[in-house]
Amino acid sequence: MSSSYNIAVIAGDGTGPEVIREGRKVLDTAASKFGFSLNCVDYDLGGDRYLRTGEILPDSVLKELKTFNGIYLGAIGHPDVTPGTLEKGILLRLRFELDQYVNLRPVKLYPNVETPIKNKGPNDIDFVVVRENTEGFYVGSGGFFKKGTPDEVAIQESINTRKGIERLLRYAFDTARERGKRKKLTLCGKTNVLTYAWDLWMRTFQEIAREYPDVQTDYAHVDAICMWFVKNPEWFDVIATDNIFGDIITDLGAMIQGGMGIAAGGNINPEGVSMFEPIGGSAPKYTGKNMINPLAGILAGALMIETLGQKAAAKSIEEAVVKTLTKNIKSLEAGKMGHSTSEIGDLVAGYIS
Ligand code: IPM
Ligand code: MN
Repeated sequence: MSSSYNIAVIAGDGTGPEVIREGRKVLDTAASKFGFSLNCVDYDLGGDRYLRTGEILPDSVLKELKTFNGIYLGAIGHPDVTPGTLEKGILLRLRFELDQYVNLRPVKLYPNVETPIKNKGPNDIDFVVVRENTEGFYVGSGGFFKKGTPDEVAIQESINTRKGIERLLRYAFDTARERGKRKKLTLCGKTNVLTYAWDLWMRTFQEIAREYPDVQTDYAHVDAICMWFVKNPEWFDVIATDNIFGDIITDLGAMIQGGMGIAAGGNINPEGVSMFEPIGGSAPKYTGKNMINPLAGILAGALMIETLGQKAAAKSIEEAVVKTLTKNIKSLEAGKMGHSTSEIGDLVAGYIS
C-alpha cells in the first residue's frame, strides 16, 4: 500500500474553505497516527475566481487534476454567479471528464443525531445509495425547436448505456457484498412508466445478479422508495439507481440521517481519480463566521482515505466523529452546535486514536 497520496484540494465557495480546513486538520492527524501522508495541493476554483478572471475550469487545470490520487472538494456555488454556471462548469464537468461513474452516498444516522423520522434510530437508518453519475438526464442531450415562439418545443433526453449501467451495477453488487450487512441490493427505478431506460436497467440487473448469488436483490419504484425511506428505512442496505433519481433520493436520505451537516459523498472512478465532498452547498450566509458544521466535510475526507485503501484510519475518523457527536455537539445546525467550526475540528482530531 502506498504511504503517500497526492491530493488536489478544491476548497471552493462560501463555507467550503472553513469546512475543508477542519477536514484537513483531522486527515493530517489520522495520517500521522496511521503512518501515511497526504500531500495537498490547493486549487483556486469557484465563484471568486470566475468573477475575478472569467475562468471556470481551465483545461490545463483539468489536465493536472487527472494526475492526483484524489480530489477533496468543499463547496461550489456563489450568490453572484448565475445558478448552474459553476455547478455545471466545475462539479459536473469534473464528474464527467474524470469518468467518476459512481456517486456513493452513505445514509447513516449516527448516535445522538436527531432524525425527523419518529421511532427510528441508528439501527434503522444505515444504508448506501450507489447513484449513476455520468449518464441519464445529466448528459445534456436534447434541444429546443422553435425557441422563443409560441410553438416552442424543449426536449431533454435521458441517456442510458448498457456499459454504463453494467459498471454501476457491478459496483453496487460489490458494495453489498463487501458491506456484508444484509447483502441486499435494491434497484430504484420507474419500470412502470419509463419503459425503455428501465427495461434496460432491469434486464442488466437480472443478468448481473446471477453472478452474485450471495446478494439478495429487490426492486422498488422511485416514488415508493421515497415513501419507504420515511416509513421503513431499515429495509435498505444498498440501493442502485440512475443519476436523476439518485440526486433526488439522496437529498431525502440526507434529511433522515440528520441533515446536510452530516451527509458526505464520493464521486468515484474505481480505475481513476475520485472526488469527495460534503453534499451540502456553500451556505453563503454563514461564510467566514466559524459557525458551520464541518462534520460532513470531515466524513467526506474519511470516505476519501477509505477509498484510497486506508481503512483503519478512515474508521478511526468515523469513531472520532461519533465521540464528538455523543460527548460534545448539542445540535448539527450552524450556530447551535455549542462549538465553533474550528473547535469541532479540534475535538474530532483529538479523539483520533
Ligand atoms: C448533487 C448536486 C448536483 C447534482 C448539482 C449541484 C449539479 O445537487 O451533487 O447532488 O445535481 O448532482
Ligand atoms: Mn443533489
